[in-house]
Amino acid sequence: MKLCVIGTGYVGLVTGTCFAATGQRVVCVDKDASKIERLQRYEVPIYEPGLQELVEENAKSGRLTFTTDLQAAVRDVDLAFIAVGTPPTHDGEADLSAVFAVAEELAKHATHDLVIVNKSTVPVGTNAQVQRLVADAEHDIQVVSNPEFLKEGGAIGDFMYPDRIVIGVRAGHDRARRLMDKVYHPLNLSCTKIVWMNPESAEVTKYAANTMLAMRISFMNELAVLCEEVGADVQSVRHGVGSDPRIGSQFLHAGPGYGGSCFPKDVKALVATARRYGIELELADATNRVNVRHRSFLVRKLKRHFGNELSGKRIAIWGLAFKPGTDDIRESPSITTIEFLLNEGCEVVGHDPEAMENIREMFGDGVTLVDDAYDAVRDADALMLLTEWREYQYPEFDRIRDLMRTRVIFDGRNIWGTYNLAAQGFEYAGVGTQDESG
Ligand SMILES: NC(=O)c1ccc[n+]([C@@H]2O[C@H](COP(=O)([O-])OP(=O)(O)OC[C@H]3O[C@@H](n4cnc5c(N)ncnc54)[C@H](O)[C@@H]3O)[C@@H](O)[C@H]2O)c1
Repeated sequence: MKLCVIGTGYVGLVTGTCFAATGQRVVCVDKDASKIERLQRYEVPIYEPGLQELVEENAKSGRLTFTTDLQAAVRDVDLAFIAVGTPPTHDGEADLSAVFAVAEELAKHATHDLVIVNKSTVPVGTNAQVQRLVADAEHDIQVVSNPEFLKEGGAIGDFMYPDRIVIGVRAGHDRARRLMDKVYHPLNLSCTKIVWMNPESAEVTKYAANTMLAMRISFMNELAVLCEEVGADVQSVRHGVGSDPRIGSQFLHAGPGYGGSCFPKDVKALVATARRYGIELELADATNRVNVRHRSFLVRKLKRHFGNELSGKRIAIWGLAFKPGTDDIRESPSITTIEFLLNEGCEVVGHDPEAMENIREMFGDGVTLVDDAYDAVRDADALMLLTEWREYQYPEFDRIRDLMRTRVIFDGRNIWGTYNLAAQGFEYAGVGTQDESG
């Protein structure tokens, strides 16, 4: 089959590359000319494990090409996937301008009947809006909703071996259904992965999934605050609760608050969409409010630790990406933490295996970034762990102890709690656990 994918970000590039890897011909389109130039040189502009190799392999085979020319790209394709950004507007709604602009262009330049597949996360009703927008096109255009569930850091595996493929097709759009069945056939060999529904259900499903996951995190973060007060340990509570198969253990980790390009914006957009219909989604709204409040929990605790005076303190941060396995810093807890520390007059020294370039772009000289994690802790008054990259899992604590000015560790991901750091001379604090001091 021949496909085009518009938008070569975390979703579009993975989608295009993975479809090409199944043997289909894919043209990836982006309006960002510098991104396309880099991709044409097989240079992947984002960090996603395995993507560089897969892009190179498929581009060299000729199955995967890159262009800024949407008009040329849409010629002869069976399906056009939209994977552009839908960032939040000031009132929490999803900004759909890029989705609409691309749909209009596709309709204008289609050379034959076309199926437009929307992969961007969009509020319920968008599919119908896009369908109306392309109604006057010269050729028949059927619009499908196919929300994406990949997670950064494991995107290729998620795409190639999906738990489910949600496809929203309007009744009577048989051509669209047939083509979607075909394009996903290589990822659906057991014929059980595709969940067919109407477009409205598909749109709601995406937001419901992200909000449900975010809700679990916010709930655990609230419980963490209680645990600290009452002598409980949120890690034990997580084990105890998560062992119940009706609950399950995933997304129950207390931490510095959820971040990333999806959860924060999608929870807010779901609330905003419901409000347009006069419906108050109170759980979703509280999920967001808890998260916003919790973002400063660790730094407020750090401030209390230093007698409410942080000015002049040198704080090391390990982990800047919103989670391990990506260079994405969108809505990363590290951003609010850095802002808080800088406002308090701290000197911030950061390290991250992949995300330092993005943090440099955002903070310029405001934050010192070092290539070696141990250089960050040199003369530091405290070390904060914000992203649980594998290389931070079991560091050389004796080296850290010797390098730090004061041996204070704030572990925002609760990964070092079992190492008895107090016995090694550290003052140690996690999230929702009892502080330890040596
Ligand atoms: N990142 C994720 O983990 C993830 C997961 C599931 C769903 N989603 C959703 O998928 C969508 C894309 O997310 P992303 O993280 O890949 O975004 P991104 O910001 O990484 O990439 C979007 C790309 O679209 C391009 N673009 C914007 N307008 C364009 C236009 N008019 N023509 C051509 N290209 C255009 C941008 O230049 C950019 O390269 C969003 O709706 C997001 O919510 C994201």
